[in-house]
Amino acid sequence: MFSEFPHLIDLNDHPVSWWNGLLELGENILRNPALYANSCKGKLMGTLFYEPSTRTQMSFQTAMLRLGGTVIGFDNPATSSVAKGENLKDTTKIVSGYADVIVMRHPIAGAAKAAALTADCPVINAGDGGHLHPTQTLTDLLTLKVEKKRLSGLTIGLCGDLYNGRTVHSLCKAMSCYPDNHFIMISTKELRMPSYIKDAIRAGGGTFEETESLEEVMDKLDVLYMTRIQKERFASEEEYLAQKDTYILTPKKMQLAKKDMIVMHPLPRVDEITVSVDDDPRAMYFKQAKYGMYIRMALILTMLQSTARTQLLRGREHPGVTCQNPKCITNFEAYLPKRFTGEGTTLTCEYCDHGLLLKH
Ligand code: NCD
Repeated sequence: MFSEFPHLIDLNDHPVSWWNGLLELGENILRNPALYANSCKGKLMGTLFYEPSTRTQMSFQTAMLRLGGTVIGFDNPATSSVAKGENLKDTTKIVSGYADVIVMRHPIAGAAKAAALTADCPVINAGDGGHLHPTQTLTDLLTLKVEKKRLSGLTIGLCGDLYNGRTVHSLCKAMSCYPDNHFIMISTKELRMPSYIKDAIRAGGGTFEETESLEEVMDKLDVLYMTRIQKERFASEEEYLAQKDTYILTPKKMQLAKKDMIVMHPLPRVDEITVSVDDDPRAMYFKQAKYGMYIRMALILTMLQSTARTQLLRGREHPGVTCQNPKCITNFEAYLPKRFTGEGTTLTCEYCDHGLLLKH
């Protein structure tokens, strides 16, 4: 099913050439921001943030303001009609009638895709639960392009909460589409990368290995991507506390790394990188956050100028089947068509990518 509008729900809905075009534009904007100061004059962006955010929300807002456009929206659903019980479809339908582009962050997987199905303007996914975060990945790609001068032939260490961290999910999917990238996944057994992401890496032609020790692999890495343990996605405080503080990057561990390795982090940092690492020239996370503003300027501009139509759904409706992921949007918004790709007894939910096995 194609929408009438271009959307960014999952980067892999678009060809790599489209990402490369965005990166080129982002780099141009970074070098000559004044040239773009009025590119979105008269345009309005709606930000619907159902979940806390500092960088993503503010960098999107700043991006639109620096392009000469304006911004409306909420960052606390408790102060909007959501608090009165309004469903996702109605909220997005209304705001898409006011705004030229919507940016949405939501705690439930598949929410941005669900919103895009009926929105009357482009929708950008700014994070849907523990699922995907494509604009953080664009930020990461621009950081790698500028700081490492390449997007291929890299050994990338991913460390922390690989199960719940949406930023590493999107990053792996994207970087496996560039040649010769190798991922070293560093996590506890409980927080390993989900299998649908490993499948996507294999399908893209990337390779990976898994380990529990950061120290042992440190000297192999071109990039170390640290992540926070995603406290809000744990069922209990106890389970979170059992994982907290397993991996902490310190200046001592940095001594094991290559001289030109870079440390990235989507932020916010809790305590997985000590503040004393910040002065190391290889610490790239604050610069990375700034690159996020430029790539979001490129993205907004592209979405507003494009007449492309995005294919949102590829599978078919299975009315009697329920997605088994309790954190999938189809289990919260009952009107959504239950759509799955795949055939027979092995289906994949089109909203959250959760695989399910049907019993007959
Ligand atoms: C990340 C997110 O929201 O997923 N933050 C961000 O967008 N920069 C990472 C996180 O919250 O840990």
